[in-house]
Amino acid sequence: MAEEVIIVQGNGVLAGDVTVSGAKNSALKLMAASLLGSGESVLRNVPLISDIGIMAEVLERLGATVVREGHSLRIDTAPVASCETPYELVTKMRASISVLGPLIGRFGRARVAMPGGCQIGARKIDMHLVGLEALGVRFEVDHGVLVAEAPDGLHGADVTLEFPSVGATENMLMAAVVAEGTTLIENAACEPEIADLAAMLNAMGAQVQGAGTPHIEVQGVSLGSMHPCDHATVGDRIEAGTFLVGGALTGGPVTVHGIDPAFLRMAIMKLEQMGAQVETGADWVRVSRTEPLRCTDIQTLPHPGFPTDLQAQFMLLAALADGTSVITENVFENRFMFAAELMRMGADITLDDHHALVRGVASLQGAPVSSTDLRAGAALVLAAIAAEGESRIHHLEHIDRGYEDYVGKLASLGADISRVSA
Ligand code: UD1
Repeated sequence: MAEEVIIVQGNGVLAGDVTVSGAKNSALKLMAASLLGSGESVLRNVPLISDIGIMAEVLERLGATVVREGHSLRIDTAPVASCETPYELVTKMRASISVLGPLIGRFGRARVAMPGGCQIGARKIDMHLVGLEALGVRFEVDHGVLVAEAPDGLHGADVTLEFPSVGATENMLMAAVVAEGTTLIENAACEPEIADLAAMLNAMGAQVQGAGTPHIEVQGVSLGSMHPCDHATVGDRIEAGTFLVGGALTGGPVTVHGIDPAFLRMAIMKLEQMGAQVETGADWVRVSRTEPLRCTDIQTLPHPGFPTDLQAQFMLLAALADGTSVITENVFENRFMFAAELMRMGADITLDDHHALVRGVASLQGAPVSSTDLRAGAALVLAAIAAEGESRIHHLEHIDRGYEDYVGKLASLGADISRVSA
């Protein structure tokens, strides 16, 4: 199949209204959670993106049927009989690991291929394992497959996570809801997607309190009392933040609908520090800018700190701001690949370990660029809209993982953008 590319004519202004899709990072976990209630659950506001397709495949391989109707998914988990998630799906998407907790909750055991680059006891999924072990799960590795078993059933425990890992909090939560007794998760991740997951679990019969704060308390219930549910996914704060950056970058005004502004407090604060005007309503945020962009310093942190998933987009703003900004990436290693592509467009960035020194330049130039990951891809398209001349963005598979109809939404805001076969 011919490669598809995005072609953008620069010097664009984004203005108008756009509605965000449901949050990718929520919907994926809600799909996994459906395993805990045998029968048909309905998930609404599910984004049309490729990662959702992969999670649907994961569930289907376990035996579930998944039917998509527009933005809704009907997931029937009654026929699920397997508790094995194969290598080819886990390597396609790390988030496949989020079926680990629900599978152990449902079957008392699971076999999930190890995500690439992971070792037990080393980084990456160590905290998932520590949390689940505290609930009574024993792990071993069998030829690259993580084999989990709870020989004496799951029992409640007090666990303090070493770091508020999103994935570890979710996996632990999804097992703890059917453990015997009470579980306390301290230093839990506070991302809004965790609160969304807990809301769905509670709608299925679980008893979870405190999700969205660092202290989550779970009163375990029996697996038999968990049932399917009908749940709507929360709006995607990262997609919202991406369009807000687009508005701030080009002047706007851009009004983003379908998002609770409270999810974006830190991003909104940084937009204002950088010279944008921001207004908010119950489920919308509007951004515009008439003054020059100003530099700022940003460090990524777990929620409610500045989200790592908006780091590339704000690096772009900093690249066109007056003065020098320092961006510090504290959550993921190797998350500055975007800087190299942006430099090809004329940005002035020096990288030093997990710090980026971004000296603002007056303008960027259109160029052929490659999206290196999901958020970098989205930010490069915005860069192309603001740059002088034409840009071609390659490797769209990254953008397709997480942004529904990104080109269509940007075109509706006035971008001169098209997606073509190269
Ligand atoms: C989720 C999001 C991702 C977001 C991230 C942080 C999904 C599908 N992805 O990823 O978009 O950028 O949260 O907000 O929801 N770590 C360990 N050991 C562990 C677990 C994590 O060392 O057991 C490390 C990771 O390598 C990383 C950091 O902790 O450096 C944060 O990871 P985590 O919060 O778990 O992120 P994810 O759930 O993978």
